[in-house]
Amino acid sequence: MKTAQASRETVAVFGSTGSIGTSTLDVLERNQARYQVTALTANTNVELIFQQCLKFKPATAAMAQPEAAVALAQRLKAANSSTTVINSTDALSQIAADPSVQTVMASIVGFAGLQPTITAARHGKRILLANKEAMVVAGELLNEAARESGASIIPVDSEHNAIFQCLPESNRCDPVKTLHGGVSSLVLTASGGPFRKYTEEQMQSVTVEQALSHPNWEMGQKVTIDSATLMNKGLEVIEASYLFGVDESQIEVLVHPESTVHSMVRFADGSVLAQLGQADMRTPIANALAWPDRIDAGVEPLDFIRLGSLHFEAPDMQRFPCLALARQALRQGNGATGVLNAANEVAVEQFVTGRIGFTDISRINAHALQNYTGAVPENIEDLFRLDHSVRQFALEYIDRELPLTGM
Ligand SMILES: NC(=O)c1ccc[n+]([C@@H]2O[C@H](COP(=O)([O-])OP(=O)(O)OC[C@H]3O[C@@H](n4cnc5c(N)ncnc54)[C@H](OP(=O)(O)O)[C@@H]3O)[C@@H](O)[C@H]2O)c1
Repeated sequence: MKTAQASRETVAVFGSTGSIGTSTLDVLERNQARYQVTALTANTNVELIFQQCLKFKPATAAMAQPEAAVALAQRLKAANSSTTVINSTDALSQIAADPSVQTVMASIVGFAGLQPTITAARHGKRILLANKEAMVVAGELLNEAARESGASIIPVDSEHNAIFQCLPESNRCDPVKTLHGGVSSLVLTASGGPFRKYTEEQMQSVTVEQALSHPNWEMGQKVTIDSATLMNKGLEVIEASYLFGVDESQIEVLVHPESTVHSMVRFADGSVLAQLGQADMRTPIANALAWPDRIDAGVEPLDFIRLGSLHFEAPDMQRFPCLALARQALRQGNGATGVLNAANEVAVEQFVTGRIGFTDISRINAHALQNYTGAVPENIEDLFRLDHSVRQFALEYIDRELPLTGM
């Protein structure tokens, strides 16, 4: 028994209480003979992580909020659990650097995931990257850290995982990040979100509830709103550029309402390779976990007869300006992707609380990208300063310009 456990791959799940985190634990549970959960982290959801700790018995757990860490420690102690709660400001980084952790599922949402992800990259971990914002904000630094430490970054985002699967062997996890093997471009597919057919006028009055009703995917709140504005696809264009070493001009976006073709790769000879599957994140999670092997993900086989037909259309950049803003930020470089990400995180938070309207999200993002001026970030500390100061900048803009447009 002891020998079998020692040979299992040790996995830390960051953001274990979220949509990706819970799907990851589902896949890990199906493949217990192969994986051992050694650490779990969350922000405030004490009840769920407590249950997860009882079930998976990780050695350590951590909460980003100190009060939540205290509450979790009390609950676990009362339940005679063997899990130790690390309660300190650098608890997440401690886990990311822990030598007993081999694989890190980076599934914290937003900029908050950057610190543990970069720590994991510096410590040579196998990183399964769902936290796209970390790559958007710090793509070059993450790649550099992984190159130096020997860490690998395997994409979990369904589109990037699809591309990862379609790319020639020599391009996957290539630390040099240059496309070869005859690859000519990447094609990211997008469902188009709940407002694919809305007019600009209709979009002025959409509610938070409507924006949170994604037609195909069940996801966390932030990524669902990003999908409705197409900012999610914009962030994914940036993520793809850093993950695969591709110019912005080599990344196409194609609206595909069925979300069956998860993305594609075009080759010089005219071939296009696509990865297809259900709209279920357990497939890319299982692929990233086991690559180059394949393991059970608990996902139903794709039924082509029921599916009938697949549709594709061009994205409307006029009605969804966030996609164009992301492309602009990527071309601009010099920290512009961090500016856009910070403004967008503020805008989404303010929309969800009902303070601003849906179309204000792109206005705030455009304002920050065009008008924020600050020093070009050169290291991780600069990126934290940039994020903080853009958030202030965006909030001041909302106070000044948008007090009456909220719903
Ligand atoms: N959901 C999907 O299908 C999907 C698909 C592709 C990519 N992604 C990407 O995966 C990431 C996670 O998305 P999600 O949908 O799983 O998000 P989610 O459901 O909102 O879960 C977020 C997780 O992060 C934790 N968290 C939130 N704020 C934190 C903070 N400040 N510090 C530390 N932990 C924090 C949450 O803890 P609490 O529960 O305690 O708040 C939760 O465990 C995002 O970057 C998203 O873009 C998601």
